[in-house]
Amino acid sequence: MAKVYVFDHPLIQHKLTYIREKDTGTKEFRELVDEVATLMAFEITRDMPLEDIEIETPVSKTTSKVLSGKKLGIIPILRAGIGMVDGILKLIPAAKVGHIGLYRDPETLQPVEYYVKLPSDVEERDFIVVDPMLATGGSAVEAINSLKKRGAKNIKFMCLIAAPEGVDAVKAAHPDVDIYIAALDEKLNEKGYIVPGLGDAGDRLFGTK
Ligand code: URA
Repeated sequence: MAKVYVFDHPLIQHKLTYIREKDTGTKEFRELVDEVATLMAFEITRDMPLEDIEIETPVSKTTSKVLSGKKLGIIPILRAGIGMVDGILKLIPAAKVGHIGLYRDPETLQPVEYYVKLPSDVEERDFIVVDPMLATGGSAVEAINSLKKRGAKNIKFMCLIAAPEGVDAVKAAHPDVDIYIAALDEKLNEKGYIVPGLGDAGDRLFGTK
């Protein structure tokens, strides 16, 4: 069964408060999302495999650890997911970045894929799917479907704020995908916004309305 990790690190929680605050402007919002994404990347990579190599310090020969070359892919869900990519790349600069774009069909209300561009070696990579908000879970479930359909086997999902409805949807559809969040909020409102949330993450990141 999927595990849900809530990152309660004080730095993450402090920065998230100012991300939520309605008077935080676009520049500061973007910087804070970037910083929280870096801090979350630090936590999410805790299980990365290591291997020993022989090195020589100025004092002696020794055996020391390096990452064992596991290939990673970061997949932002367009468009708000883009705001978390650079923060993750600061810690994992060799990761490849794919993109998945989805829109909601006005009649069925189901997410429909309109853009998918992934690294060519999908089957060999571990993936982190990122979107700041996990609301109904529809986009996250569909983005993960899309990755699995193309051969991805090991996937994590990372967001800033989740609603219980979204967490339940991802867990039900993808019990093999662990979910990493900075805060689990109360609920969704009638317009599909997370409460208390932060508003529309894409608009706040990109200064649109
Ligand atoms: N997407 C957002 O950007 N904000 C929400 O509260 C829910 C979905």
